[in-house]
Amino acid sequence: MQDSSSPTPAEAKTGAAEHTTPKPPKTQPAQKTFLNRTGRQWAVQGGIGVVAIIVVAAVAVLLTRWLLDTETVAGFVERYPGQYSQPEAPGGYPWWLNWAHFFNAFLMVLVIKTGIQIRTEARPAAYWTPKWNKKRKISLTIWLHNALDLLWVLNGVIFVVLLLATGYWQRVVPTSWEIFPNALSAGLQYVSLDWPTVGEWAHYNSLQELAYFTTIFIAAPLAILTGLRMSGLWPANNQALNKLFPVELARAVHFPVMIYFTVFILVHLILVFATDALANLNQIYTGDETQNWTGFWLFALSLAVIVAGAFLARALFVAPIASLFGRVGR
Ligand code: HEM
Repeated sequence: MQDSSSPTPAEAKTGAAEHTTPKPPKTQPAQKTFLNRTGRQWAVQGGIGVVAIIVVAAVAVLLTRWLLDTETVAGFVERYPGQYSQPEAPGGYPWWLNWAHFFNAFLMVLVIKTGIQIRTEARPAAYWTPKWNKKRKISLTIWLHNALDLLWVLNGVIFVVLLLATGYWQRVVPTSWEIFPNALSAGLQYVSLDWPTVGEWAHYNSLQELAYFTTIFIAAPLAILTGLRMSGLWPANNQALNKLFPVELARAVHFPVMIYFTVFILVHLILVFATDALANLNQIYTGDETQNWTGFWLFALSLAVIVAGAFLARALFVAPIASLFGRVGR
């Protein structure tokens, strides 16, 4: 192989190499890519994806409408209208539910943001060492994630205790096997775009109730348990416990649970806005069911608070708080 700086035989003959600097080989200008795709590829493949989704959705809507018109399915929906009767469940939205729901949304956005940051940051801005264990050192992002987790768990425990104490739990915990055929019926009606309307505003339809139950009583405990396993609170020296609940299992479950929460929040918000938005926002922010803009403006304010929280969740502002509980450094 010839060294690129040494003259070729022809150059050696003419002495050309002494007067001309070797030209670098011609290369294409580097294309900017995101997740291994160029902007053009994203546009083409994204466009095909969107068209495919629209076609599949349209076929699903038409097929479900046709199904709902058949005698069997129409009879099924008549028998299971999408919600079962819950005579004991209290109605309305008490103030504690309004506040717990807001704190939950605020903390959840920050928990998801810092969770994604932990997975993606190559070099943390700073590290934190607890006062009580000088050998343990975690990134400031993990510290913030865990601090937010503790507040989120505290808020969640207060919420669940109040749910149980006031009877409101009956709205979000299935109390009859009829929830399953009713959820299927509600699902069919959602897909047909002929959406189930809630007869009494205190009652959720069965699919909604199952989603709330899964979020509060399955996803949240799973997030807590798997997070605890990966945290400094876990008794790492207890071999029996470690074997019973391997850290790899915790890691494998923690991330999909975060995906679940993200999808839940997106669908939840779409449905809040697609079904009588003003009344929904009034219920969850003021506890009132009237049709005015108060709930909407409180929602806008709460979004501003969430965005401000997300902005402040950076080392500059977090370090002074974290240093109250340990040493912050590099
Ligand atoms: C700012 C964003 C949010 C808005 C505007 C919002 C809105 C609402 C509304 C309007 C309801 C009442 C539903 C109805 O009457 O049909 C509700 C209930 C509920 N939301 Fe949200 N939500 C938000 C974020 C979240 C988040 C992040 C979670 C949890 C991951 C969540 C979990 C729930 C649960 C569990 C209920 C049922 C509460 C009960 O009745 O006990 N929400 N939300």
